[in-house]
Order: sequence, then C-alpha cells, then structure tokens
Amino acid sequence: MDTNYIRIFDTTLRDGEQSPGATMTKAEKQLIAESLARLGVDVIEAGFPAASPGDLEAVQSIAETVGVGQDTPSGEPPVICGLARAKVTDIDKAWEGVKAAKRPRIHTFLATSDIHLEHKLRMSRSEVVAQVHDMVGYAAKLCPDVEFSPEDAGRSDPAFLYEVLAVAIDAGATTLNIPDTVGYTTPEEFGALIKGIKEKTAGMTDDIIISVHCHNDLGLATANSLAGVVNGARQIEVAVNGIGERAGNTALEEVVMAMRTRAPFYGKTTGIDTTQIMRTSKLVSSCTGMHVQPNKSIVGANAFAHEAGIHQDGMLKHEETYEIMRPETVGVAESQLVLGKHSGRHAVKTRLAVLGYHLTDEDLHKAFERFKKLADKKKNITDADLEALVTDELRQASQLWSLADLQVASGTTDMPTATVRLAGPDGEIHVQAAVGAGPVDAIYKAIDQIMGKHGTLLEFNVQSVTGGIDALGEVTVRVESLQSSDGFINPQSGVDAKRTYIGHGTATDIVVAGAQAYIAALNKLLIAEKREEAANDQTPGVNEEEKQA
Ligand code: KIV
Ligand code: ZN
Repeated sequence: MDTNYIRIFDTTLRDGEQSPGATMTKAEKQLIAESLARLGVDVIEAGFPAASPGDLEAVQSIAETVGVGQDTPSGEPPVICGLARAKVTDIDKAWEGVKAAKRPRIHTFLATSDIHLEHKLRMSRSEVVAQVHDMVGYAAKLCPDVEFSPEDAGRSDPAFLYEVLAVAIDAGATTLNIPDTVGYTTPEEFGALIKGIKEKTAGMTDDIIISVHCHNDLGLATANSLAGVVNGARQIEVAVNGIGERAGNTALEEVVMAMRTRAPFYGKTTGIDTTQIMRTSKLVSSCTGMHVQPNKSIVGANAFAHEAGIHQDGMLKHEETYEIMRPETVGVAESQLVLGKHSGRHAVKTRLAVLGYHLTDEDLHKAFERFKKLADKKKNITDADLEALVTDELRQASQLWSLADLQVASGTTDMPTATVRLAGPDGEIHVQAAVGAGPVDAIYKAIDQIMGKHGTLLEFNVQSVTGGIDALGEVTVRVESLQSSDGFINPQSGVDAKRTYIGHGTATDIVVAGAQAYIAALNKLLIAEKREEAANDQTPGVNEEEKQA
C-alpha cells in the first residue's frame, strides 16, 4: 500500500450543494460527476439520498453510470458515496442510492462535541458510543466500504474521539473522517488532533484511512487539511472552488496544487489530472451560479495575470520570476480557435470527444443545430463556446417550457414591451405580451403569465464566454420560490430549506439568454413542486418523519 498516496474525496455534490442557493438539477449533477471522474477524484460524494426523492434519484443515476466506460486517469470508476445520518432510514436510503456503483460507499456521521451533544442531539456520550456502534455496524452489513465522521470533531474532546473512533473501527468502518465542521481549529491544533487519533485510537492500522474535512470559516481550510496530511491523513475531503456550507469546504484545486507544486515538501501524490481543473471549476460555477472571485487561488481569472510593470518585465525575462505554476498545468490554456461555419457534424463530434463529451445521437443533433446557428453569427467558435453550448443543451434536458420566439421593443421609450412565445408541455405554443420597467422586466412578466408561476428574482448576472463583440453571453439568474420549501432537508441541521433555483441561458443575444435563464429557473421550480406533490401522495418520507420527531 502506497502510504504517500492521498485520496481526493469530492463533496461538491453534497456539502457543496448545501451552499445557499447552489441547488442543482439531476442533469447538472450528472455532468459534474462525469467531469469529476475525468478529473480523477477517488471518491464522489454524490449526495444525501434521504434529503428528497430527487436527491436519491440523482445519486442512483451517478452510481449507475459515472466512470463506466469513461476515460478516468486511473482507468477505474471512482467510488460513489452517499451520506447518511446515523439512523437506519438514512442508511437504507444511502445504500439504495449507491448500491449500483462498481465501488459503493456509505458515509454516516454523528456529532461528538459536547456542544452538539447537549444542544442538538440531547444525548449522553455513552448513547453516542452505542449509536455509532449500531449504525456503523448496520451500514457495514450492507456495504463493504463504510466511512464514519464524528461531526464537529474539531471541537470534541480528543479522548472521547479516540473512544468513538475505536468503536467505529470495531463495527466495520474503513475510513475515519475528521471534520472541522465549523472551521474553528488552527493548523497546529488540527495537525495535532490527527496525530493523536493516529497514535491513540485502539484498533488503528494502515488499512484504516484517516480523512480530513475542513470548513473555511476562518480561511484556514486548506492549511488545516494540509496539516492533517503532514500528520498522517490519507484522504482529503474537498469541493471544487471551495463551495460548501457557509464559507465553504477545502478547495480541491488548492490542496491538489499545493501538494503538486510543493511536492518535495509534502512528498505526497494524488490521482488528479490537473489539466482538467479549470474546466471542472467553470462547470461547477455555471451549474451552481456561484461565481469564482477573480483573485481566487488557482482558478480565479487573475490567478495567472500579471498587471504590474515590474512583474510583466520579470515574466518576459523568465516565467519563474513571478510564476510558481504554469497556467497550462491547471488547464488555463489560450482557447483554441477550432471550428467555423464550414465545419461539419463529424468535426463537431470529434472536437467534443476531445473535450470529453460523448453525446447520444439526439443530443449531438441538438448541439449541432445550435452550433450552426452560432456559426452564422460568430466567425470563430472556440472550445469555450462549444462547451458552453453543449453543457447548456445537456442541462436543458428537463425543460417543461421552452422559448420559441421573443421580440422586444426597448430604448428611450417609456414602455419597454416584450412579446414572448413559449412551447409548453402540452405541445402547444403560448403567446403573451407585457410592458415592464425595462426589457427584462417586460419579458419576465410575459413568461410569468404564460407559465402561471412567479418567482422572486434574487440575482441576474451576465458574463461573456469569450472576448470579442460577437461573444456568447451567459446569463445566470437566481429565483426564489414563494413557497417555504419543496421538501428538501439539510442533513446537518435537519431543517426544511427554502430553495432557490438557478437558471442559465447562453446566446449571442443577452436578452434571449436572459429569457432562457428565467424559463429554466421556473422549470426547475415547477419540477420540484411536482416531485413534492408526488412524494406527499405516497407514504410519509423522511421529511415527514423529521417533522414528527
Ligand atoms: O462538516 C461536516 O461535519 C460534514 C459531515 C457530514 C462530514 O459535512
Ligand atoms: Zn461539511
């Protein structure tokens, strides 16, 4: 066993999705999971199956398909993991979610800090020990690979942690994940905690993997995770772009590039193909609507930009003067000009395959139609354009309503007016005109009237996919449902979460992209409502049980 190999456990789809407003559709989760497999993560935590029927379905689909017949750096599909509170119903649901995977894992957790025991769980230490024994044992009977996390380990009494972890090992846990749930510890403290666990937990052997899961409330998640590795951890839990509860989780790109750039210092390796980092970062940002700040390490727009004259002069003389990593190592290459008006279906298919997209004939047909329309307006189509088109197309998979036509009159007029034609789920075209404060307001009013839905628009963001006046514009909107919840529960707080819905649109005309984005968000809202209605018609789900508890 190579004890210097550090497993990368990605929780973008679980803890990452717990970021306020980062809810993703099944199609988006599937795309991200495929991208993570291509990136070479060892474990994908695909979700919390007990949260809602939608979460269970998404985990099942990822377990069945991701990494199977796909190019991954190791040639193996990643382990697919589902989260479960330490209770039978959750563990059963997690197993239902992941059992189809070639390598399934159940991850179960129970808090160990006195604060959580007293105020949240209202349990004694001995009750916690007994529940960990029973529930880890229960999970181990279902699945050979079980991970246990003592939640809020960072603020737990180390002696009690050793006791609980020894019980988890005895009951069959193969990975012990140590969360700094509230991002409270310092690197020195967290490193010492990992060292203590490695040395003092009864039953600890080299076959048991110690993992670290750090939150970034004090900006120390990366430093704490690396301190954990220096002291014996062999798995790091991360999220792409560092998204996650509150200030987020350890950023995948940061720990991976720190261990690679400072390889002689850390002496560790990972299975990550770093050239896939940038595109995965962009996909996650686009699917979650969480934009990456320009000065973000590794994946920010300015991470490899040199502005000051002295720096530029140094760079021209020798790159290493101001650059500790080459941009191409993380996939920040100049976007290639690849295709144009005369490129055929085969060329588009081949280029997409190089980018890692293997589409069905139907999806290829739709993507090619959009490519041709774009090529009429834009001379050179880059990889970034092509990826924006195809991911936009794949994510629209669950559209109920779609934009058929749009006309807007705006300018210095006092009455910006929009006429919108939507294709409905009934196969009919529905038309509506509306006047608004501006063109977007007018369009959204017309859409509200046709779809019979009204969401509160929380955010409207426009970005261009590439430079140039003819660039594709990508609009992201965030819409809040007027209902209190659609049945989703947060695994840690156990509380119904009011959901917000992200919608995207990509077009050379940003008004059109804005309309597509709003329709996509309202479609998600409608789908969630339908799913909730269907779930309420069936037996009471975990959500009901939670409410009764
Ligand atoms: O932060 C945390 O404690 C978690 C656990 C569920 C591992 O996310
Ligand atoms: Zn967490």
